[in-house]
Amino acid sequence: MTNLPRAAVIGNPISHSLSPKLHTYWLNRYGLDGEYTALKVTEDELEETLRAMPAQGFIGANVTLPHKVSVMHFADQITDRATLIGAANTLTFKEDGRIFADNTDGYGFIANLRQGAPHWDPKAGSAAIFGAGGAARAIIVALADAGVPEIIISNRTRPKAEALRADFGARITVVDWVQADKALQDANTVINTTSLGMVGAQDFKVSLDNLSKDAVVTDIVYNPLRTPFLDDAQEKGCTTVDGLGMLLHQGVPGFERWFGQRPEVDEATRRAVLA
Ligand code: ATR
Repeated sequence: MTNLPRAAVIGNPISHSLSPKLHTYWLNRYGLDGEYTALKVTEDELEETLRAMPAQGFIGANVTLPHKVSVMHFADQITDRATLIGAANTLTFKEDGRIFADNTDGYGFIANLRQGAPHWDPKAGSAAIFGAGGAARAIIVALADAGVPEIIISNRTRPKAEALRADFGARITVVDWVQADKALQDANTVINTTSLGMVGAQDFKVSLDNLSKDAVVTDIVYNPLRTPFLDDAQEKGCTTVDGLGMLLHQGVPGFERWFGQRPEVDEATRRAVLA
């Protein structure tokens, strides 16, 4: 066992995760002692793994699919934003072994937009969200917190969008998937949170006739970095922000908490992670 402070990303599958590259790059960049690895953990192994990690020198962990919701059961302390989202992606192990759970996905989403579209004003109009999965939940909480006046959700499975409205309230409207383009009317912020557009999946196709060129458009898909959806929006004249930055920024609070240095997300970071 190493004496270095250790952190890891836990999930299943995990081999595709970019987090080890990101955190190892930051550790090297700032000359910090530490180690960040990937742990493949099944649902059955989750509790035992979490309980064993502090004694193995782990000071924290990122959590990815499929454990973001179930990990909440094992947390001793949960931040308000993780409670609201109903999922955690960042754990810190206290010295007495207690687990502190946070969710930085919404933070990463907002930080990415602010960096990629500095003129973006969340209060300037509604937000259109396509998709109603876990990522959409975190983004809705973050957008509401940032002061977006109205959120319009469209999802293939409508009841999942209705459930988000039930959870998050009055500022949310649901539109049918077959009329998804209606969500774009008056939208100032537009987000694809579905897996459509990802390598190996179908494209995300929606008519952009209703889309204003003043809107800021982003996609949580980052493989490929430029999705056809982002290209089409850019052709309309919109500012577009790719999804890689959300992943990079969500890692910032955990790294700072564990290793004591607030890391930067810049071009060099992007290059290191994509290499
Ligand atoms: P995450 O937690 O990352 O958001 P998820 O919960 O699996 O992932 O959500 C994936 C999203 O992509 C859902 O909104 C899903 O729509 P459904 O709720 O109808 O399943 C959406 N999605 C995936 N494949 C899709 C497809 N072929 N057409 C339309 N939407 C799709």
